[in-house]
Amino acid sequence: MSDNPYQNDRGNKDWSIAKPGGTGEMTAAPGTGHAMNTSEAFLIGDTMTGGYGSGPDILHDCTIAVNPGEIAVIVGPNGAGKSTAMKAVFGMLNVRQGSVRLDGEDITDLSPQARVAKGMGFVPQTNNIFASLTVEENLEMGAFIRRDDIRGTMEQVYELFPILKDKRRQPAGELSGGQRQQVAVGRALMTQPKVLMLDEPTAGVSPIVMDELFDRIIEVSRTGIPILMVEQNARQALEIADKGYVLVQGRNAHTGTGKELLADPEVRRSFLGG
Ligand SMILES: Nc1ncnc2c1ncn2[C@@H]1O[C@H](COP(=O)(O)OP(=O)(O)O)[C@@H](O)[C@H]1O
Ligand SMILES: [Mg+2]
Repeated sequence: MSDNPYQNDRGNKDWSIAKPGGTGEMTAAPGTGHAMNTSEAFLIGDTMTGGYGSGPDILHDCTIAVNPGEIAVIVGPNGAGKSTAMKAVFGMLNVRQGSVRLDGEDITDLSPQARVAKGMGFVPQTNNIFASLTVEENLEMGAFIRRDDIRGTMEQVYELFPILKDKRRQPAGELSGGQRQQVAVGRALMTQPKVLMLDEPTAGVSPIVMDELFDRIIEVSRTGIPILMVEQNARQALEIADKGYVLVQGRNAHTGTGKELLADPEVRRSFLGG
């Protein structure tokens, strides 16, 4: 069995994070703009084209993916379609072309709720907590699909985010921005997800709180849960990213390891402020 405290035996069985020697998943050539071998990725939104309702396409052949043991980061300018790509992977968008696959299964036609049941955890960019409910009630709501005992998972969330234990009886809306993001991530972990998707988990927090949140996210990833996240703090996020995607106008503009993107002059000039 795994030693991932957030998962039971529903979880994905590939604990590559726990194996010494790194992931070795990517085949990207040095430099960026090259296709990476993501076709067998654990979670992939593959060449997705689509938009909201019957509106125009926002995404154009957009691909984002993540593998066990990895943190994959999506960066790009405001309005590039980062949140839209996440929503597409989570089933909140009409994907007209392309597909979404989880652990080899085509889930393109599943509802968001069915995707949660399959093991996807999603923390949206906005409205990601119930402000009037207590911290603990938020975590309980997160576990809505479970029929088994959730107390162990709740203790693990409290171990990851000790401040939430102290504040468990307080309305979540009274917490600081960074603490509310912890509630949102904790809520998603309560379903024991096989993969975690985070849309701007550090939005609106101070640099110190951002560093702390990144540390906790790394900790979660080390338990074996692949993490696909959007970040506006591009440089810092790429520093912890195994894989990075730069999206521009709904398209993949640059793809590579975090290191490659950080070293790419074009990416630096256009997206990282030189
Ligand atoms: N609910 C929505 N309905 C229609 N258009 C939307 C909606 N949400 C976002 N958009 C549009 O989709 C484009 C991409 O937005 P978004 O994915 O939120 O960008 P990002 O997250 O990269 O800042 C923008 O042009 C935005 O106006
Ligand atoms: Mg967004």
